[in-house]
Amino acid sequence: MTINDYKFAGKKAIVRVDFNVPLNENGVITDDTRIRGALPTLKHILDEGGALIIMSHMGKPKGKVNPKLSLGQIKDAVAKALGVEEVKFAPDCAKAQEAAAALKMGEVLLLENLRYYPEEEGKPVGVEKGTPEFDEAKKAMKESQKEFAKTLASYADCYVMDAFGTAHRKHASTAVIADYFDADNKMLGYLMEKEVAAVDAVLGDIKRPFVAIMGGSKVSSKIGIIQNLLGKVDKLILCGGMTYTFSKAHGGEIGQSIVELDKLDVALDVEKTAKENGVELVLGVDSVCCTGYDFGTFSVKEGAKIEVFPSDAIPAEYEGLDAGPESRENFAKAIEGAKTILWNGPAGCFECDDFTAGSKAIGDAIAKATAEGAFSLIGGGDSVACCTKFGLTDKVSYISTGGGALLEAIEGKVLPGVAAIKG
Ligand code: 3PG
Repeated sequence: MTINDYKFAGKKAIVRVDFNVPLNENGVITDDTRIRGALPTLKHILDEGGALIIMSHMGKPKGKVNPKLSLGQIKDAVAKALGVEEVKFAPDCAKAQEAAAALKMGEVLLLENLRYYPEEEGKPVGVEKGTPEFDEAKKAMKESQKEFAKTLASYADCYVMDAFGTAHRKHASTAVIADYFDADNKMLGYLMEKEVAAVDAVLGDIKRPFVAIMGGSKVSSKIGIIQNLLGKVDKLILCGGMTYTFSKAHGGEIGQSIVELDKLDVALDVEKTAKENGVELVLGVDSVCCTGYDFGTFSVKEGAKIEVFPSDAIPAEYEGLDAGPESRENFAKAIEGAKTILWNGPAGCFECDDFTAGSKAIGDAIAKATAEGAFSLIGGGDSVACCTKFGLTDKVSYISTGGGALLEAIEGKVLPGVAAIKG
């Protein structure tokens, strides 16, 4: 079934969205990209005369109630975005039978964080992996996950999967629930359709040069996509904290900078593959470094020094926190003239104004290339936040609501959230 063909009039639709939005310490949304992304689907269902049951996770409460991760905090923001007077709230997502039954057409019910229940993710809790107890617990959990999904399904007449950001997870609400609806009553939402089309636009017919920019702190979390991209791109910029694992692999001095000592061989392997594939690998040659950065408040501690050093000659008391001027110039040069661009992960601790220059240089270069005809796809919460911070959201081709999901889709993996609907 497709969302355009389905007749929502008189029907209750349970919609999985990804409202895992960043909140500040007062519970106020700091980036509502994901809520705006889901609006076309949600509004369509209401406009067609249906009722909405919205479900999502927020953060990683690991199967326990955590008020800081309550979706109740965003209820009014959702109402405002939808243009409705009220969004009702079910404080226990697995005990919302009455609230769902009482829902009238045109009304909206938001369920509390699905991940308050371990059944959502389906991972056994409190048992150590690799033990015989774990296997037993896993089996039992699989059964209770089905029950949990069945309960969620019982609230509605149809199921709409529109949580692209979570579509790479095979969870109760993103995949298992689909088993409880027949093919005529389950479908992808507009956001899912749009995101999948954006990935196809990048991979289907690659216009060259294709430049990918991968940032962030860990090689380990990006290695799958990096290896995959080495078979596709013309240039690969690796920036952010990853820089120092590469520096270290060549015996560089990196001071206090973040490093994955068990991934030095992986870094060398990436360089080797890039060479074999004729991919130009661009790494940060210099870094803006600091002697005291507070990652909790995103600020430089009083009296701390900031200085630029070569990325492989950082003094012992300094930590690399952003790309230096030469690196920024190299990154911008590598992006110039690109016809396809993928950006995931910032070049530095962009949350602090002292360390935004690297990410800004990348963002500006992408905006310029886009104005000259490139297709640019930006994904991952931090890169999207960079675009927002630098006022670039309208100057790039497509901003994805997916982080990990986008990367897995680009790797060519079938997303469980898509497979659950399309088979
Ligand atoms: C995300 O923020 O990438 C999505 O909401 C998925 O969250 P997860 O990585 O905790 O599954």
